[in-house]
Amino acid sequence: MRAVPIHRYGGPEVLEPEQLPTPEPGPGQVRIAIEAVSVGFAQTQMRRDAFPAPMWNPTLPVVLGGDVVGTVEAVGPDVDRVRPGERVGAFLMEGAYADRVLAPAAALVPVPAELDAAEATALPGAGPIAVGTLKTGRLAPGESVLVHAAAGGIGHLSVQLAKAAGAGPVIATASSPEKLEFARSLGADVVVDYTRPDWAEQVRAATGGRGVDLILDSVGGQVLLTGVQLLAPGGRLVFYGSAGGDKAVPAVPVLDLVGLKSVVGFNLSAWQRLHPEQYAEGLAELTACLVDGRVRSAVHARLPLEQAGEGHRIIEARLHQGRVVLVP
Ligand SMILES: NC(=O)c1ccc[n+]([C@@H]2O[C@H](COP(=O)([O-])OP(=O)(O)OC[C@H]3O[C@@H](n4cnc5c(N)ncnc54)[C@H](OP(=O)(O)O)[C@@H]3O)[C@@H](O)[C@H]2O)c1
Repeated sequence: MRAVPIHRYGGPEVLEPEQLPTPEPGPGQVRIAIEAVSVGFAQTQMRRDAFPAPMWNPTLPVVLGGDVVGTVEAVGPDVDRVRPGERVGAFLMEGAYADRVLAPAAALVPVPAELDAAEATALPGAGPIAVGTLKTGRLAPGESVLVHAAAGGIGHLSVQLAKAAGAGPVIATASSPEKLEFARSLGADVVVDYTRPDWAEQVRAATGGRGVDLILDSVGGQVLLTGVQLLAPGGRLVFYGSAGGDKAVPAVPVLDLVGLKSVVGFNLSAWQRLHPEQYAEGLAELTACLVDGRVRSAVHARLPLEQAGEGHRIIEARLHQGRVVLVP
């Protein structure tokens, strides 16, 4: 099979295509013939050996993971919940920059035939993360929501889902006028360039001075610390990513949380384990929204598998609106 492993950590150039043996599914596994796989910021951190969480500790060479959409091609001996020919998605830590991948049968999500494969990469991971961060932040209708990195793969879904859940205002941040325009086109009420020194004042003004009820933060660092200052009484900040560089996982002074404010760290698998009913309901609703067009999964670029390095360059240059997807 075709794959793009990394043999060493480094820049996008370490992503080099090669032929690898096609794996056979073992107990509990299926083999998926991949139609599309997302490229996300987390994989650029993994490639650089800068991923901050302990759950990813591979032995090199390794093939990076992502949100995969494809067709089940073969199933392991004891697998009966899914059959060859079914269209599925999987959020995988490893193995996805390839035209074939093994996945645990228990982790598959159904993917309707009518969805475009690249757009459907929102279903296994990005979309559930957008849903799960809003649920974890206990969004109530009418509450203000601040979505950071709102033009990104997950962020652009968060804007739409917050709006659909009745939030108001939805305030979106991004780093360029084009991205802010994109966020506005998805329904953001207020857009703010958070590379400007006065971004926090603009956000506070958008809430009439009260502060923000819910902040979805995938950037961390000073953006997160400023976000804590921006929380309204009873406000919640959900931290789920650290795109903001080396110091993106700061210590939060607990005294800043007096006023019934809270900061919670979100991880997709923890949310799935703790709230399986929320996850199942959220996934079903998200699937329906993608099928009938209520939520748009935007694809910035569709690249051949062999151009995985180019996908990483786009993400690291912060050029994308929506997702970057490899189509093997
Ligand atoms: N907790 C979980 O379970 C989980 C799972 C997967 C991913 N994640 C995290 O979720 C976040 C979003 O993931 P994604 O795949 O959708 O990524 P993405 O949004 O497509 O790309 C990263 C975003 O971060 C922003 N950004 C801020 N500072 C940046 C910097 N120094 N370099 C590059 N980008 C920067 C960019 O927007 P601007 O240019 O507008 O700033 C960009 O939109 C990431 O932090 C990722 O690690 C969390």
